[in-house]
Formats: sequence, C-alpha cells, structure tokens
Amino acid sequence: MVIEKNSLKMERVIQGLMRLNTLDEKKLYELIKYDIEHGVHFFDISDIYGRSAAETKLGNVLKEHPELRSEMIIQSKCGIIKEDNDVNYYDLSYKHIVDSCYASLKRLNIDYIDYYLLHRPDIFMNAHEVAQAISELKISGKVKHFGVSNFPHEMVKYLYDQTNIPIEINQLQLGLGHLDLVREVLNCNMNNNEGCEHTGELFFYMKRYNISLQCWSPFQIDFFEGSIFTDERYKKTNEVLDRLANKYHASKCAIATAFLLNLGDNIQVITGSTDPKHVQETIDGKEIILTKPEWYELYRSTGNMLP
Ligand SMILES: NC(=O)c1ccc[n+]([C@@H]2O[C@H](COP(=O)([O-])OP(=O)(O)OC[C@H]3O[C@@H](n4cnc5c(N)ncnc54)[C@H](OP(=O)(O)O)[C@@H]3O)[C@@H](O)[C@H]2O)c1
Repeated sequence: MVIEKNSLKMERVIQGLMRLNTLDEKKLYELIKYDIEHGVHFFDISDIYGRSAAETKLGNVLKEHPELRSEMIIQSKCGIIKEDNDVNYYDLSYKHIVDSCYASLKRLNIDYIDYYLLHRPDIFMNAHEVAQAISELKISGKVKHFGVSNFPHEMVKYLYDQTNIPIEINQLQLGLGHLDLVREVLNCNMNNNEGCEHTGELFFYMKRYNISLQCWSPFQIDFFEGSIFTDERYKKTNEVLDRLANKYHASKCAIATAFLLNLGDNIQVITGSTDPKHVQETIDGKEIILTKPEWYELYRSTGNMLP
C-alpha cells in the first residue's frame, strides 16, 4: 500500500524514534511493522538522537527492508549541534541546513525526507537563508515539506512573513506533565506568572494558520523528569486518569492522549515508547472524546488553577 503523503492531519499519532538505543535492528523492524499494521505511518527522528546513531539504525533497517519506505512518512530535524566535548549550540545557517539534510539522507538510506524540521531556534537565524536552503532542498526533491520545532510565535511569524515559505508544523512539548502552552491561554489577563505571555499566544496562532502542533514527550514531566504515570507528584492526575479509563474502557495513557488530541484537529501526539503495548494505548486515545468537565478536571488535577 502506498499511503497518501499529504494527509498530515490524518496522522494523529506519531512514532517517536528518539530512544532507539533501547532497540536492536530486528526489534526496530518489528516496531515499524507493528505501527504500520495499526495505522501509524508517521515516524519522527533527528540527526541529534544518539548523535546520529538513531538515523543510522533506521537507515540499516530501511536498507534491509526497502519495501517499508512507501508506507512511511519520515520526518527528521537539524540545527542542534553537540560537539565531542559536550559543548552544544544551535545552527540554522544555509550551509548547516543543506549539509545536515544530505547527511541525514545518506544515513537513512532514502532519496527524500517527507518532513524536515528546524529542531530549535537559533538566535542568529536569518529567514532568507533558511528559505533559500529549504527552497533548494524542495526543488531538488530532497525534502517534501517543511516545519519547525520549539519555535516561539514571533519567530514563526518572522520566518513566514519574510519569505512566505509554508511552515506546516511546529513541534512543541505539551502533555499533562508540561502544560505551559495552554496554561498561558487560560490565565489571560491575570496578575500572576501564568498570565505572562511566555509563548506569545502561539497556541491560537497555530490554530488560525492550521499549523500542526506535534506534542513531543506527551507523557513526560517537563524536561525528562520521568513519566506522569508513575510519579508521586501526579497522584491526583493518576486518580482522575484511572476513573476516566474505567469509564471509557481504556488505559490511562489513552485518556492522556485524548486529553491532547481533543484540543483540535491540528494536534498530533508523538509517542516515544518503543513498547508496542504502550504505543497501542496511545493509538486507542484517538477514539476517545472527553466531556468538557472531564478535560478541565484533568487540567486542574495537575495542580494548575483556573482563575
Ligand atoms: N522536538 C524536540 O525538541 C523533541 C524533544 C524530545 C522528544 N521529541 C520527540 O518526542 C518523542 C517522544 O518523547 P519521549 O520518549 O520523551 O515521550 P513519551 O512518550 O512521553 O515517554 C515518556 C515516558 O512515558 C512512558 N510511557 C509512554 N507510553 C506509556 C504507556 N502507554 N504506559 C505507561 N508508560 C508510558 C514511557 O515509558 P516506556 O518507554 O516504557 O513506554 C516514558 O518513560 C521522541 O521520540 C521524539 O521523537 C522531540
């Protein structure tokens, strides 16, 4: 089967491939097969995962099983650099974007990347340089679509307004363990920290322009502090998840996924699990529609107040 590559909005669940160090190539092949058989065609990777070891591993699997490619939407990213001495910095220059893309294609053993994202904002980014790099990669057929990750509102606008280059995705952290993006909207005009515009109304800007919000680390507490499902700080959230899981005959993870997907058609959830049972629980979340009181109860269960 050849999948429809333009149906970005149909791909509500994405398989994240950041933690491939836990899998050998055989297990990775089995995970990809499982995903495809269960309707997950979108795979997210980056040149920085495992310092390019993740792309190399996926590339080896694709070399061994080239038949997989036509059923996969492959997304990779560039822009984060980690030197051997652990110094890290960001680079979104023309040269870095183009060179990184060709290096990723080589490691992945593929002719083109479906979605290519700028992984993190580089303060020195020049919109015209980015546009030149992306246009050339698109014209040469190496990249089909373009997006960004962890980009603030003004930076997305700057890039778009200056160049008209279509930005289809902004990948951001959002989940019950990291709610800044919606907390800010719900605290508008309040004299508290939450009411400050940390993300510059990014959430509704993305809705307005139909930019996909890909939620990374959806079950992680903040920046890699562990899973919400097992952490004592999320006891109340787990009680509510348990009760709703019972009501909807689903798992807690399916409810936590629905909590995100219910926010709009432009939302996608990237599971980072490499355990097919856990991935399946995320897939199950596509079918659940929470009531408004349930959604807000989950939101409040994380310790967030409603004014
Ligand atoms: N753009 C960016 O800057 C950025 C940054 C980080 C990540 N990402 C992307 O986001 C993806 C996901 O990141 P992540 O791995 O941190 O997120 P995650 O899926 O939220 O995983 C966090 C934790 O949740 C657990 N978990 C997931 N599903 C579960 C389930 N059904 N039941 C119980 N526990 C469950 C995982 O355990 P198990 O592993 O045991 O299932 C893991 O410990 C990455 O692979 C990557 O593609 C992007």
